Amino acid sequence: MDDLDTLLSDAHALLAAATDRRQFDAAMSQLTGRSSIIAEAKRRLSQAPMEDRPALGKKLNEVSAALERVIAARRVEVDRLEADALLADDRRDVTLPIRTLPLGTEHIIQQVLDEVCEIFVSLGYSVATGPEAELALYNFDALNIPKGHPSRFESDTLYINYRDEETSYNDPVGTVLLRTHTSPMQARWMESHQPPVHVVVPGRVFRADTLDATHSPVFHQIEGLAVDEGITMADLRGTLTHFAREFFGPGRRIRLNPSFFPFTEPSAEMAVSCFACDGSGCRVCSGTGWIELMGCGMVDPNVFEAVGYDPAKWTGFAFGMGGERLAMVRHGITHISHLYQNDLRVLNQF
Ligand code: PHE
Repeated sequence: MDDLDTLLSDAHALLAAATDRRQFDAAMSQLTGRSSIIAEAKRRLSQAPMEDRPALGKKLNEVSAALERVIAARRVEVDRLEADALLADDRRDVTLPIRTLPLGTEHIIQQVLDEVCEIFVSLGYSVATGPEAELALYNFDALNIPKGHPSRFESDTLYINYRDEETSYNDPVGTVLLRTHTSPMQARWMESHQPPVHVVVPGRVFRADTLDATHSPVFHQIEGLAVDEGITMADLRGTLTHFAREFFGPGRRIRLNPSFFPFTEPSAEMAVSCFACDGSGCRVCSGTGWIELMGCGMVDPNVFEAVGYDPAKWTGFAFGMGGERLAMVRHGITHISHLYQNDLRVLNQF
């Protein structure tokens, strides 16, 4: 009985001294194992005089239960101590400089396409993309480009499947080619949307060109199209002036020189006053003060007719600019191939 009384206070001291799992397990077996005081007391109970047994048994049960509570409580503490020790041991010096990996960026052409689209999106335009393998029907016919037009020759256009027979607009099966411009999306968009229309179309285009400083058989364009009641050339001029100032900086002026495209009438070449010399003439603008940027014009009534818009009701303008040209002009890049060779010395500059 006396041993049982001191057992509990001894157990407290013993468990408190155990600060890790191994010490705790040792204390456990000392307190509850086969040669422990409590095990010995249980064995002796059967030898005790009959009249003492109820009191002894009760006492034994109480001490046993108390011991179990103390052990359970300490087990939780030891687990926590051990976890803390593990964390402390696993400490990292967060002030050490890290090894940095080179950070990638968007390609300069993609940056330019995104930026141009963003400028028009903030004017309320939608952004659309279209197929690179296109029907001659959209690339040429719907755009009022006559059969036999030189741009249709194999010296200019890359054909996937050339069909000699006539293709009618209502029978869209025929010659498949790599689109030579993003303009076919004018027809596709109008065919599936009712006016008013405001849309820009970035994308890859293909021409049977050999590579030189300013030409590549694959390059990028951004097409623009606006159709509504009462749109005039003044709207085209205002829109492109806004674009030029957003893209090249405040104060830019634009110039519209007469030109010709089968799908616009009248047509124009748009140039922007040189951002480097403000028009006085320098290396960037080859001394002219102007930088040619894009073709544009008022949508030809024949195009409206091809897509089922009433040309008596709707007018609109369209424009198409080259992504590579914009990037080269802005960054003073003198050979288009710099944009395609993925030379890190070039790419890292942007
Ligand atoms: N599609 C013409 C080209 O590739 C550009 C253009 C687009 C001109 C829209 C007028 C209107 O040269």
